[in-house]
Amino acid sequence: MKSDDALYDELYDVRSEAVELGNLVEVDPFGLIEAARERGPVQEGYLREVLGVPFWHRHRSVIETEKGRRKGFTVLSFAEAEAAFRDNARLSNRIYHMNPTDDRMLGILEMDNPEHFAHRKAAQSLFIKPRAVGMWRDRWINDIVNAIAENLGTKSRAELNMELCARVPVHTISAAVGLRGDDALIFRKALIASMGTRKGPQAQMEAMATVSRMSMEQIEIRRKTPGDDIISWLIAAEVDIPDEGKRQLSDAEIVTFCRLLLLAGGGTSWRQMGILLFALLDDRERWEAVRSDRKLLEPAVQESMRWNPNNPVFSRLAIADTEIGGVAIPEGSVVDICLAAANRDPLRWDNPGEFDIHRPAKPHIGFGLGAHMCLGRNVAESEMVVAVNALMDHFPDMRIDPDMPAPFITGGIEQRGISALHVVLK
Ligand code: HEM
Repeated sequence: MKSDDALYDELYDVRSEAVELGNLVEVDPFGLIEAARERGPVQEGYLREVLGVPFWHRHRSVIETEKGRRKGFTVLSFAEAEAAFRDNARLSNRIYHMNPTDDRMLGILEMDNPEHFAHRKAAQSLFIKPRAVGMWRDRWINDIVNAIAENLGTKSRAELNMELCARVPVHTISAAVGLRGDDALIFRKALIASMGTRKGPQAQMEAMATVSRMSMEQIEIRRKTPGDDIISWLIAAEVDIPDEGKRQLSDAEIVTFCRLLLLAGGGTSWRQMGILLFALLDDRERWEAVRSDRKLLEPAVQESMRWNPNNPVFSRLAIADTEIGGVAIPEGSVVDICLAAANRDPLRWDNPGEFDIHRPAKPHIGFGLGAHMCLGRNVAESEMVVAVNALMDHFPDMRIDPDMPAPFITGGIEQRGISALHVVLK
């Protein structure tokens, strides 16, 4: 796992990622979010307009039309965010369609019902909690984390963002899909480029071709020799779509699902693991409390998702007139649902800005809600629990390195993570 350091540096630096995407913000968004929420839970304007920061949008190819920019709305409270996520008959995931000619870049994430329900059902059982704790943890996550911990054991200092957080999720998803470690990074690099970079459409086309070729190679291998992996499972799976009847997934659909898994699972858990470790190490009492009572670890993972979800905003496209919190949303508008704001709604949580592992359990919205609620949330939780447990077992005295730059949370408004996490291990 050492030879690929340069590629990790390139792919897993939160600040560089934001610069590459063009959405870096230097301010702490929470001050702006609190001020904005005072003006109302649902407001006209895109999130960045409401917060008063330079405009950028993940779905710019959808929001910019020939007739100009669509009308935008922003949701900042928990109750209204929940209502928006559950109104999936009118607030559609078509927002994810990347371009009019290829509407299946992100599989289930961009589907609406009944298609979404049928496809999600076909894959759902791979991600339920017993499987995330059993199959995923036992078969893949434990080995990956143990290998990293063993490597860290030879050192006295480390940078955990790059040496641990970046590696666990990408190796987990890739192993589950059937890719070898080295191929996994090449795949992820191509995958990120295939979603569009500043390098232009030619680079994007080439990257897409690489993603498809690498996935197809795996599908061909698994069709001949099925194994214990996601692709073999998907080859055997059936979808049952009303009016279409039962059928197996096509190769193209399997490629798309793998692409979504690598994209959704490779970036999010990386950034969230860094945020979690930062929150635990930032307060010695917190670290010790969890270390001496590991039952607190799962609540700590959930609290990190509430306190600082690494993807603070998701959007929907209104495909019919609707209303959220008394505000009329006309068909054709875009709704930015700000999870980070909803997760710190003072109507739901006391001292919402505080990271509190003893907080009474109450569902947060960091994994979304409703039909599209994160399919991989149990896997993400397993990755973080196994990784932190291993660190606490191997390096009980681990602390933030006082001789290196202090860690802080950075990135865009749309994706956030830790600047770097230099620690003294022993
Ligand atoms: C801390 C880590 C993670 C966070 C914060 C996260 C967050 C989310 C959120 C908010 C959504 C809903 C998006 C929307 O409604 O528009 C989502 C969907 C999804 N996530 Fe995650 N995710 C994480 C990790 C993972 C992992 C590890 C996997 C795969 C193993 C994964 C797979 C998916 C998939 C397949 C969907 C689409 C579900 C659907 O459309 O029905 N996620 N994720």
